Amino acid sequence: MASIHNIVFLCFLVIVSCEAQTSFRPKALLLPVTKDSSTLQYVASIHQRTPLVPVSLTLDLGGQFMWVNCYTDYVSSTYRPARCRSAQCSLAKSTSCVTECPGTPKPGCNNNTCALMPDNSVTRVATIGDLGSDVVTIQSTDGTNPGRVVSVPQFLYVCASALDGLASGVAGMAGLGRTKISMPSQFSAAFSFPRIFAICLSGSTNSPGVVFFGPGPYRFLLNTEASSNLIYTPLFINPVSTASAYTEGDASTEYFIGVKSIKINEKDVPINKTLLTINREGFGGTKISTVNPYTVLHTSIYKAILKAFGESLSAVPRVAPIAPFGLCFNSTSLGSTRVGPAVPQIDLVLQNSKVFWRIFGANSMVQVRDDVLCLGVVDGGVDVRTSIVIGGHQIEDNLLQFDLARSRLGFSSSLLFRQTTCANFNFTLNA
Ligand SMILES: *[C@@H]1O[C@H](CO)[C@@H](O)[C@H](O)[C@H]1NC(C)=O
Ligand SMILES: *[C@@H]1O[C@H](CO)[C@@H](O)[C@H](O)[C@H]1NC(C)=O
Ligand SMILES: *[C@@H]1O[C@H](CO)[C@@H](O)[C@H](O)[C@H]1NC(C)=O
Ligand SMILES: *[C@@H]1O[C@H](CO)[C@@H](O)[C@H](O)[C@H]1NC(C)=O
Repeated sequence: MASIHNIVFLCFLVIVSCEAQTSFRPKALLLPVTKDSSTLQYVASIHQRTPLVPVSLTLDLGGQFMWVNCYTDYVSSTYRPARCRSAQCSLAKSTSCVTECPGTPKPGCNNNTCALMPDNSVTRVATIGDLGSDVVTIQSTDGTNPGRVVSVPQFLYVCASALDGLASGVAGMAGLGRTKISMPSQFSAAFSFPRIFAICLSGSTNSPGVVFFGPGPYRFLLNTEASSNLIYTPLFINPVSTASAYTEGDASTEYFIGVKSIKINEKDVPINKTLLTINREGFGGTKISTVNPYTVLHTSIYKAILKAFGESLSAVPRVAPIAPFGLCFNSTSLGSTRVGPAVPQIDLVLQNSKVFWRIFGANSMVQVRDDVLCLGVVDGGVDVRTSIVIGGHQIEDNLLQFDLARSRLGFSSSLLFRQTTCANFNFTLNA
């Protein structure tokens, strides 16, 4: 009996170790993201090519795909152009084909390769670039620590060199938008996990925040599971592309939510409700952006919010506004709380009056000088395409989970309430 037990046990061990080597399937992946102090962009780093090199990319939440400058310093034995009319080109919805590129073949210049229009969404410059694939590696996670590195052999990306305006050292943009070749879609397909990803941006330029590909748990020190207690709201599709260049009929790949009204200190701010819905031409509505450092508002909404916010803080001495902001206070007269300066809360009211995204001082106010705090929203003008663009400062230390299959956003509100931050992921490797 004892010997049979031993044999069974041995086989069990052999099977487990074989599986671990050949078919490790991560449940989720992890990408550290650091805020760049001069551009205020959020920069992620992946590994790409053969041999592998680190590649820094500006995070673009609504971006269509990953694009990388492949024209300079690109050495790889595993680069493959996507041939016109291939399955890769149709997945990418490419409608154009580069039949002939003069010269010797190299990444970004091959005959018979399909092309797309990569967008530098910071400067709003679009170019044309070849679709290709190469090896990408990324760390897996159990939700608590980083785990082993996993690899996607043919990760699709577009070649572009429009790097002006991006943070120094960056070689492209990491598009997390709503397409079949965006980074979340490709990772979900490669490892068969649900089409879910989450971002948790850190406001610190020293301690990184994190993007998770795949479902939770997402644990932050000390033992906060940020995907529990999320509030959910539907994601909307803007039927007209918001990219700098696009093909007629393309929908926007950005993430829109349905803000129905805005409250400050629980009082309704009078705003023109027409601006809050997306019209047939694709104007209006509310989206979330990681390339805008601060929330950008249509002029009429901007004025209404500044007026209401100023009135509810009338006891605090104002100081002359400091650009790009329009409402600033002497911070020596403001108290502080666990969730930042003690200022009126701003509620973005969503599908009904019980569902709202509450913005506290840490996310509404920006410390511009030692004793000056400004309301961190900017005037986008009267011709803005999208009436409310929720920017980076307003989503820092909040966990936002995008569930693409269910087309909904889960948001945590400020993690500071739970005594943690987005910089508190434990990046120590699990032994
Ligand atoms: C494309 O094909 C043309 C004609 O066959 C050839 O002269 C050229 O070198 C090729 N270019 C690339 C990049 O392969
Ligand atoms: C509200 O906004 C819409 C869209 O910009 C505009 O056509 C309309 O005139 C505005 N209404 C008022 C009362 O300002
Ligand atoms: C803020 O108030 C303090 C105390 O009254 C004062 O000393 C300081 O100069 C003020 N700062 C500004 C920018 O007005
Ligand atoms: C971070 O993770 C490592 C590896 O699991 C663990 O040893 C360490 O105790 C963790 N740190 C904290 C503060 O929990």
